[in-house]
Amino acid sequence: MIKSIILAAGKGTRMKSDMPKVLHSIFDKALLGYVLDAVKNTELCDENFVIVGHQAEKVTEYVMNNYENAKTVLQTPQLGTGHAVSMVRPYLENYKGNVIILCGDTPLITSETLKEFINAHNDSNSDLTVMSAIFENPTNYGRIKRNSENKLHSIVEEKDASQEEKAIKEINAGIYCLNWDKIKSAFSELKTNNAQGEYYLTDIIKWANERKLNVNVYTLKNNEEIFGINSKLHLAEANKILNARVIKKHLENGVTIIDPNTTWISPDTEIDADTVIYPSCYINGKNKIGKHCKIGPFAHIRGDVILEDNVKIGNFVEVKKTTIKSNTNACHLTYLGDSEIGANVNIGAGTITANYNPLTKVKSKTIIKDNVKVGSNSVLVAPVTIEEGANIGAVGVITKNIPAWALAITRAPLRILENWVSKNK
Ligand code: UD1
Ligand code: CA
Repeated sequence: MIKSIILAAGKGTRMKSDMPKVLHSIFDKALLGYVLDAVKNTELCDENFVIVGHQAEKVTEYVMNNYENAKTVLQTPQLGTGHAVSMVRPYLENYKGNVIILCGDTPLITSETLKEFINAHNDSNSDLTVMSAIFENPTNYGRIKRNSENKLHSIVEEKDASQEEKAIKEINAGIYCLNWDKIKSAFSELKTNNAQGEYYLTDIIKWANERKLNVNVYTLKNNEEIFGINSKLHLAEANKILNARVIKKHLENGVTIIDPNTTWISPDTEIDADTVIYPSCYINGKNKIGKHCKIGPFAHIRGDVILEDNVKIGNFVEVKKTTIKSNTNACHLTYLGDSEIGANVNIGAGTITANYNPLTKVKSKTIIKDNVKVGSNSVLVAPVTIEEGANIGAVGVITKNIPAWALAITRAPLRILENWVSKNK
């Protein structure tokens, strides 16, 4: 097991936001969360250090609330990437194993690549491995300088690079694996004699080479994995890339997606084969969708939704924090939130679970048992339970529990006034 260090202290000025950059989200998950999940899913790291600085409290709160094996380490002021990593030294004074270093703003990195990277480091008995990528337009990245034997010599930052160095297309992806025991003392020897006056993490390469340590490069296969977020434009682009990746996976697994261009599916949504997703659906957060379901067109699944097999969620239906058992339909114009819904239920058009009391700000549950039929335009005022097989007449406003197999009607009886119109003309 190794340790990870995730750099997330920077300001992210170009996001033009009150929020710290790494807490901006794609499908309701923070950018930092994607990086932490990728590290976690390698199953190779048992302790993660997140370097925080700008709006440290907010980032710390996020990490504490969501990740058990992660702790945050404060870096103030922020004197560069090398300085950031050095903040972890007190925690790892006696640690002898490997450390992987990543940035908190590259949400598209995958655990498969990280595993391959760590394995490459181990297989070559490397002391320091740097991830590189080949970019047609390498502007703004650190450039990889190789020696006559094609081994990594050093990294030169854009701002320090000569014209000749700027022409190098191999860039530093900003992900490193290092033998902590052998490299850690480099961090107290870094200098700030560079164009940005910062302690550059990248200077550890030269340091290691000067000590004849085993330094290697691992070249990334898919450049989009290190796509870094610096602006809202980048955020939108990353969202699109991630969505395309998720949709491809589901198509390969046998899910039918009629229009990948207008379908949005979060990476934490599981969908079984033979389910059909119609155009213009937005599926966010963590969900589990069974087989032979039909979703959309124009459905909104907002997270913590479990659909068993053969469930229909039709047009303009919004579902949140809800479990629905098999063969149940909610085909039109409906909101289902904080609900447990049984099997073989029919939810009529326009049904609303009124789960939120704006006076008390309390959310309550709606429980609908098997074989219930809810008539169109009904409001189920939670907390409320509709027992098995009960029917709710159309336009029911249900404020009490309804017993099994009962009929509940709340509307005024229909009156027909014969010739009323002609008399009143
Ligand atoms: C860095 C690399 C560059 C590489 C690029 C890849 C250095 C000197 N340069 O450049 O070679 O091509 O990443 O994206 O490392 N951070 C801190 N504390 C600090 C400074 C930065 O935590 O004091 C964090 C930032 O929040 C960010 C990451 O480190 O997540 C990278 O910092 P940034 O300033 O964006 O580095 P680059 O200039 O892009
Ligand atoms: Ca910088």
